[in-house]
Amino acid sequence: MNTARTRNYIPRETIDEIRTRTNIVEVVSECGVALRPAGRDYKGLCPFHEEKTPSFTVSVQKQIFYCFGCQTGGNVISFVQKHEGKSFIETMEWLAGRLNISLPSQDVRESANRKRVLSLENLHRFAVEYYHQQLLTGGIGTSALRYLKHRGVHPKTIRLFQLGYAKSGRRDLVKVATDEGFTIQQLVDAGLIKDEERGPQDRFWNRILFPICNERGVPVAFGGRSLSEEHQPKYLNSPATVLYDKSNLLYNLDKARQSIYKQQHVLLVEGYMDALMLYQSGIENVVASSGTSLSENHAGLLKRFAPEVIIVYDGDASGFRAAHRGLDRILAEGLRVRIALLPAGEDPDSFTRQHGPAAFRELTEKAINLIEFQIQAAIQRQDIHRVDVKAQVVREITETLLNLKNRVERSEYVKYAARELHVDERMIWQELRDAGLKVEQTPQRTQRAKRAPEKLSPRAQIEIQLLEALIQNPKLIPDVKSQFHYQDFTDSRFSRIAQLLWEACKDDQNVDIQALISECPDEMLRAFISNALLRRTPPPNLQARIEGCLSKLRNFLLQDLEQRVRSHALAEGSDEIETLKELIKLSNQRRALTAHPSEELDA
Ligand code: UTP
Ligand code: MN
Repeated sequence: MNTARTRNYIPRETIDEIRTRTNIVEVVSECGVALRPAGRDYKGLCPFHEEKTPSFTVSVQKQIFYCFGCQTGGNVISFVQKHEGKSFIETMEWLAGRLNISLPSQDVRESANRKRVLSLENLHRFAVEYYHQQLLTGGIGTSALRYLKHRGVHPKTIRLFQLGYAKSGRRDLVKVATDEGFTIQQLVDAGLIKDEERGPQDRFWNRILFPICNERGVPVAFGGRSLSEEHQPKYLNSPATVLYDKSNLLYNLDKARQSIYKQQHVLLVEGYMDALMLYQSGIENVVASSGTSLSENHAGLLKRFAPEVIIVYDGDASGFRAAHRGLDRILAEGLRVRIALLPAGEDPDSFTRQHGPAAFRELTEKAINLIEFQIQAAIQRQDIHRVDVKAQVVREITETLLNLKNRVERSEYVKYAARELHVDERMIWQELRDAGLKVEQTPQRTQRAKRAPEKLSPRAQIEIQLLEALIQNPKLIPDVKSQFHYQDFTDSRFSRIAQLLWEACKDDQNVDIQALISECPDEMLRAFISNALLRRTPPPNLQARIEGCLSKLRNFLLQDLEQRVRSHALAEGSDEIETLKELIKLSNQRRALTAHPSEELDA
């Protein structure tokens, strides 16, 4: 996605105008979130996670939202993006439309491209409607309808998923679509027909069609199921087109996304029918990959909605094997993976029909994570008592453990693996180090990890206080920026926030925190800033507080410096007097640099 490019076409001033003229409380309410006044703010049930008591807060004064339950936050633009699943541009268009502001059009080439895409989307909408009507037309769709009914698909589901039927003719769509004004070239570009020697031919005939929509609900492809064994392949899918790239798209994500947010995990199944039937039975947080294994792109897509995916594999050998492939890379994307295996010979559809949705839920709740899965699979596969086999298994799981982003999780799994394989934990750690793991590395937290509040080091606590104070009073940023480099912050998250603030403060101008939230690419940072803005009690004297933080941080920095000189001296074997001189010199330099009264440095 070229967000950078598309972003640019709306001038900064227009974005600011739209933002300042929009009232976040109105927009949040228009998006269907019930809000009630609570003091100076508004409160409601959070739309981004399941809750019974309202912790979703909207501030009129600051024009931001923040949920104390799931720590999601931002301004009106990020709210619409997240809640409505719109891109930045779509959000701006929508907000501009509300205010009757017209946006400048993009440059000509871009708009020509856009036109082409739009026409192919329209063609798909037309085809979906056409095939859907065919299915519902007596005499044409009768046998297909009977088949769907026999498989337990309700009429309501057929409508919701816009299921269709392509009859046995080879030029039906060619005819109706060209009559409608679409060109052969457009039909070919959309992957709906093939232009062959004997003339244009429909791609789909005598098949039940599953329209495949992108995450915004626009149909961009079809999956077509044959109605008989003889007619192969069983599923025929649209080819890759400008609109459709199967490694980038998940079936049913458009309908599932709300539920995925609420459940905070997504179920991934193999088949269209599986996704559709689970959805019908009330399990809505389900998507299907169209006959491919989960790609890194898929992981990136899913991560926007939930931190965890539960992959449900059919209970056959191929499903079992597929479970292994490529999953390490998914972990590297920072998405948690768990795996549920169905009994042999079952798929989610058949299982749910037979045992009911509750049994299916139970099965997914018992899903084990990837490492447990790998270990269990290895234990079942081989004679795990043999030393060489154990060593082999340890090597196998090392890759997965390396890809885990979270240090706490990793150490838990090392414990688990050691226990299950009856090996010493230290052996696994050694294997990890040999494979390149730096054990001292700073913990990287996954974006939405919601754990008990972590204990920050005293220094990090000061860093966080300083940043919060600056966010509450951005006028003070230039001054602090002139004294501290963002890399002076020890906590990597705070360092990133400082970097963001420092960079926003060009030519020592005032920083517009609202604009910062709009531009901030990172959800964690947006949430941090919104939270800092919303804090109930801004300290009585912000200036003094900032001064206090600064002097403590200076002290820490000085200690760092001295530590470095000392260890350097130790390594080089230089004598004590020299080291002392060096230390004094450095201290003086630092004092001059920060131009600060010396008594504070001695504190
Ligand atoms: P399955 O063979 O498991 O079929 O393929 P299914 O989804 O259970 O379908 P029913 O229940 O028999 O109707 C799983 C998925 O793999 C892809 C499709 O996306 C299918 O939904 N697939 C399968 C193909 O793309 N082509 C094929 O020939 C078969
Ligand atoms: Mn099936």
